Amino acid sequence: MHLSIRLMKILFRYQKFSPVQNLLAQQFFKPSGFWGRIAVDFMAVANRPVYDWTMEFLEIQPQDNVLEIGFGHGIYIEKAAKKADQGFVAGIDFSEAMVKRARRFNKHLIRRKKVALLHNDMQPIPYPDTFFDCAFAVNVIYFWNKPENELREIYRVLKPGGILALYFTNKDSLQHLPFTTSNLFRKYAGDAFAAIVKKAGFTKVSCHTRLLHFKEADVKGHCVVAMK
Ligand SMILES: C[S@@+](CC[C@H](N)C(=O)[O-])C[C@H]1O[C@@H](n2cnc3c(N)ncnc32)[C@H](O)[C@@H]1O
Repeated sequence: MHLSIRLMKILFRYQKFSPVQNLLAQQFFKPSGFWGRIAVDFMAVANRPVYDWTMEFLEIQPQDNVLEIGFGHGIYIEKAAKKADQGFVAGIDFSEAMVKRARRFNKHLIRRKKVALLHNDMQPIPYPDTFFDCAFAVNVIYFWNKPENELREIYRVLKPGGILALYFTNKDSLQHLPFTTSNLFRKYAGDAFAAIVKKAGFTKVSCHTRLLHFKEADVKGHCVVAMK
């Protein structure tokens, strides 16, 4: 894990070079192979504070059915399952490598049918209407070509009154990361994305903002929270 983080930090230092830029963009979009493992080790550590913050908005109850989209390492699938200990947690991710890794990490919960991790994209989300009490995604919305489509699917699978929480880094903060100029990434200001969520039919849409302090720079992150 320490070696992965050191390797990622080296790549970040050279991210103005286009081969490094492309490698980073691709591995954050859909991790695979050796560099995918390194990238996701890095995310498992670096994204902890924003994951904890996002989970607070969900207020997961013991009987809840919970959905995570783009679970990557799958660490927060386990945390959600601990809270929903009489319910069920599903995750979908379109990276085969991430599904394998997260299944390994959550194998005891999968065996007990408390968790299911599916190799899937969101068109459609493979669950029936009104199945989930809450849904969340951390650092995934950048990769939605037309977020209205993905939001429509999330809306469909949430129960009335169900809660959605989406974490992402603000577009101005992402400008400092050259690999995010890749056309794989779409960047948003908090209010702009909140408006898209509202347009998709969600109510009580709020945009929360938090400043994260890193050695290299301060990073502004948003959690858009909404109700079906
Ligand atoms: C930047 S990583 C974030 C991983 C993790 N959520 C975190 O923040 O540490 C994005 C993850 O979302 C997955 N992903 C991106 N777009 C997706 C989509 N449309 N459907 C399913 N998974 C997607 C990728 O495979 C990857 O595992």
